[in-house]
Amino acid sequence: MFIKRTNAGRAAALAILGLLSATGVAPAQEPLKIGLILPYSGPFADLAAQMDYGVQVYVKQHGDIVAGRKIEILKRDTGGPNPDIAKRLAQELIVRDKVDLITGVLFTPNAMAIAPVVTEAKKPFVIMNAATSVITTRSPYIVRLSFTLPQVVSPLGGWAAKNGIKKVYTLVSDYGPGHDSEIFFKKAFTEAGGQIVGEVRVPLRNPDFTPYVQRIKDIKPDAVFVFLPSGEQPVTLLKSAVEKGLLADGIRLIGSGDLTEDGVLEGMGDPALGVITSGHYSYAHESPENAAFIKAFEATFPNGPRPNLTAIGAYDGMAVIYAAIKAQNGKLDADQTIDFLKTYKAMSPRGPIEIDPETRDIVQTIYIRKVERKAGKLVNVEFESYPKVKDPGK
Ligand code: PHB
Repeated sequence: MFIKRTNAGRAAALAILGLLSATGVAPAQEPLKIGLILPYSGPFADLAAQMDYGVQVYVKQHGDIVAGRKIEILKRDTGGPNPDIAKRLAQELIVRDKVDLITGVLFTPNAMAIAPVVTEAKKPFVIMNAATSVITTRSPYIVRLSFTLPQVVSPLGGWAAKNGIKKVYTLVSDYGPGHDSEIFFKKAFTEAGGQIVGEVRVPLRNPDFTPYVQRIKDIKPDAVFVFLPSGEQPVTLLKSAVEKGLLADGIRLIGSGDLTEDGVLEGMGDPALGVITSGHYSYAHESPENAAFIKAFEATFPNGPRPNLTAIGAYDGMAVIYAAIKAQNGKLDADQTIDFLKTYKAMSPRGPIEIDPETRDIVQTIYIRKVERKAGKLVNVEFESYPKVKDPGK
């Protein structure tokens, strides 16, 4: 109906509004829309599934109506680390689909490409995984609920030097999180008296580790420090380490928690036993919150994978989105969301977490873990912890 901008028209409009309020019929509220960007297809689809499951478990536990608003999740597929696609998807979600918030994002290059888009559009961007330190500096609208590589590997550097590992060769994926891992492991390790005897950066989509493993075997370090993105590559590396006799020679593997993440750990088999990693989440973390999370995850996906570090990032990411909506009585204003999240504190299945208001990055306990077999399962057993670790990369 077209109402002319005349007094009569205005009166008619007011009459309609009066009628609506008299009958108690409020205009229906649009759902709140959340854009979830993940590599649903391609070689990292298993990790996207982990994160998607983390989101689904949270929604199943807490419902899809928050403070009276229906939550609608719009899922978009980047097919892998593809910054151009990630940027276009974020733009479409914001401009065409009118989402209120962007979330997800496994890969650093995708997060970096989305950052200027959310800044320009003034939309909150809750990062559930991408873990290179610099990302949160790229937009005031980013809050990260996963981890950063400097945060995770710095405690391991100190631990290794104090626990009989004197000479280390570093092998990392040649992009943001790999560079961060190499630099910050090396810093902590050498400051504590360790020595780096060689280093290599391998392509992000590296299919074969045999030549690297052979070279490392000849150099004979005490250990190889590894950062590879979670998923298939750590499994391939471990296979090569067994085949080439690296482990038989007494050369140990150590690394960030991505190396022995819970989604693939069982498939690694006995060669994974004894591998030391540092990380923020273990399936074997003993707490009532983790027991409840695992129970809900396994009930929702009885044939699914064991939840891993990316699933927990997604689960906690949803928790902060829900908390922000509740705090605003059903709204998701960008500035209010970020201001609210800067004060966020909770007990996650991984342990206590909070957001650092200066950096909008997560502050959390980092655990040193060892792969052991417990009740028939290969698990990362936490044996030392470093509480309230901030990102040292800023
Ligand atoms: C990242 O690209 O930031 C990334 C991806 C996979 C991981 C960790 C970090 O396991």
